[in-house]
Amino acid sequence: MITLSVIKADTGGFVGHSAVHPDMLAEARRELGRATASGLLIDGRVASCGDDISLIMTHTYGVDAGLIHSFAWDTFRATTRIAQELRLYGAGQDLLSDAFSGNLKGMGPGYAELEFEERPSEPVLCFLADKTEPGAWNLPLYKMFADPFNTPGLVIDEKMHAGFGFEVYDLYEEKRIVFDCPADIYDMLMYIGAPARYVVHGVRSKTLGETAAATSTQRLSLIAGKYVGKDDPVMIIRCQSGLPAVGEALEPFAFPYTVAGCMRGSHHAPFMPVPVEHAHPSRFDGPPRVVCLGFQIRGGKLIGPRDMFDDPAFDRARQQAGEVMDYLRRHGPFEPHRLPLEDLEYTTMSILSRRLANRWTPMTTEVATPTPPTPSPVP
Ligand code: F6R
Ligand code: MG
Ligand code: MG
Repeated sequence: MITLSVIKADTGGFVGHSAVHPDMLAEARRELGRATASGLLIDGRVASCGDDISLIMTHTYGVDAGLIHSFAWDTFRATTRIAQELRLYGAGQDLLSDAFSGNLKGMGPGYAELEFEERPSEPVLCFLADKTEPGAWNLPLYKMFADPFNTPGLVIDEKMHAGFGFEVYDLYEEKRIVFDCPADIYDMLMYIGAPARYVVHGVRSKTLGETAAATSTQRLSLIAGKYVGKDDPVMIIRCQSGLPAVGEALEPFAFPYTVAGCMRGSHHAPFMPVPVEHAHPSRFDGPPRVVCLGFQIRGGKLIGPRDMFDDPAFDRARQQAGEVMDYLRRHGPFEPHRLPLEDLEYTTMSILSRRLANRWTPMTTEVATPTPPTPSPVP
């Protein structure tokens, strides 16, 4: 069995929250090189999307492994030190604790991990996003694994026809449920259509008994109890031979659907699929970006990456994302561009409520008419 772990953190932005400094990426590569040479990892790659660094790693320690998580933690501490030296923005932003204990759960970095028996040919896709939240994967996962208009394999591949099980988390109440699709599709959509709270954590093939998808499902703001940035999620999809074809897994992103995130983590904006060289949100700290790195895994080694959205066939999605961004921006501070009050990451509401408390009166009381100024005598 091998494990593919994608562990990510924002340890400082260059410039503002728009990208990762090349020195930080170089440091992460050195660490990954050392860990591969020492035998901790079978293989590893460093990638980034916006201001988040992702460590893409293969190993044999399984999911939630202390050794792997503490290695990632130490690497993020090292990139934080560089961010501090260069006075980059938000240095160490996602490292919420001073000391590592056990594994990364609740400590700030996000991770998606899959343990599996390597197939004779093992194509995998690693999706990395910036300026949005883990629920942003709900819509594409639904399309990939439950929508025959996206994935013809659900109809015409006998290994897919029985459907998939979706494991969904309720992030507010820390509960989970498994929906058996297609039978449970309508029930499931009631929940996953509310992606701020209900998030698909994993998807499993009923026929193959294989886990096909994993997402990072931490919400920093809930962990920290205050605003510390959006979670900028990652996702792994295994493809082909009874799982979605690579093209079926990419197809949902041809529609630049709206996600929560963008400026101050507090706006709806289109999700723009981009090649790695364009994964640097700048306009209005957005639009939120998604990149996809494709690999073939052979003996645990990562053959790749291929930059999957570096394809002119996604130009129209990018163009449309620009148009949707123009349209939403014109709403300024009004919903639905701005998130509903309960989902805002930044809010002055509690300060305003206190300051204006005495000026709110029941609607049944008379409104005091302001006294007109006394006219000055005509000379
Ligand atoms: C969104 C994001 C940015 C910041 C914004 C303000 O997820 O990271 O939009 O929220 O640039 O940042 P601060 O409050 O750090 O000045
Ligand atoms: Mg940041
Ligand atoms: Mg980010």
